[in-house]
Amino acid sequence: MMQKMETSSKKKVALVTGANQGMGFEIAKALAENGYTVYVAARNLQNGQNAAAEIGYGARAIQLDITEKNSIEDLKMQVEKDFGYLTLLVNNAAISHAGKAYGTIEEMRDAQRASVAPIAELYTVWNTNVFGTLAITQALLPLLHNAPAARIVNLTSALGSLTLHADPNSPFRGGLDVMYASSKTALNAITLSLAIELENSNIKVNLVSPGFASTQLTNFLGTQTPKEAAAEPIRVALDENVPSGTFTTATNITVPW
Ligand SMILES: NC(=O)c1ccc[n+]([C@@H]2O[C@H](COP(=O)([O-])OP(=O)(O)OC[C@H]3O[C@@H](n4cnc5c(N)ncnc54)[C@H](OP(=O)(O)O)[C@@H]3O)[C@@H](O)[C@H]2O)c1
Repeated sequence: MMQKMETSSKKKVALVTGANQGMGFEIAKALAENGYTVYVAARNLQNGQNAAAEIGYGARAIQLDITEKNSIEDLKMQVEKDFGYLTLLVNNAAISHAGKAYGTIEEMRDAQRASVAPIAELYTVWNTNVFGTLAITQALLPLLHNAPAARIVNLTSALGSLTLHADPNSPFRGGLDVMYASSKTALNAITLSLAIELENSNIKVNLVSPGFASTQLTNFLGTQTPKEAAAEPIRVALDENVPSGTFTTATNITVPW
């Protein structure tokens, strides 16, 4: 009994990937404000340190490139050493293209259509959004299992929903590019696979489509602030009553897989 009380009163520890800017920063800030110790994971440690300093109490910077095996291993060892467990993993880091600058979202989508999208660029985007996200998740699963109750929140896009695109009347229909949107479709499959695999465990798994935010990822063409657009991932991350296996957008609207 004593053991159980000690375990359940453990401090909540979260890690947000790509937390130095955009929605990741807002999610990390909200978690710190709600009593979490939050690892602000950033590809560039200095950017992570700046973000952690801005968030203040509860935030600590850590280097992480989800496409780099050594970076993932170093991070895992650090969290293991600091706490030995993780309560919450927010897989937020992603890219929308392989480095080419596009003027508008439409231009980017046209260059990423199935008929023309350069395969080398697909590898780059999928390497981050799909394989990198799964790699960091696999690495941190033992630490999530060590927490009394844990959660993984994956950020996707409604553009990844095959059901929406398959509907001829859907406003999303034109948006199924094979680079970014399809990488999110693959992530959605991985998320559901993990949710099913872990359904009898201590780890809940959720998928969230945030709003359309003005961030680096959208070339700052989104219509919402990162804070507004991050409201749903923050809700799912913070509300302990959210069941495993949901795919939602704001506020708590179910998105078809
Ligand atoms: N913005 C939208 O309208 C929108 C809509 C639907 C879904 N989403 C999803 O929401 C999430 C956050 O998007 P955002 O718009 O806030 O993006 P953002 O501002 O561009 O931030 C993306 C973050 O991911 C990091 N990152 C990129 N590649 C990485 C890698 N290999 N390893 C580790 N970190 C990496 C970036 O690091 P650097 O700072 O070093 O570049 C940055 O911190 C993404 O999953 C995105 O797909 C966004």
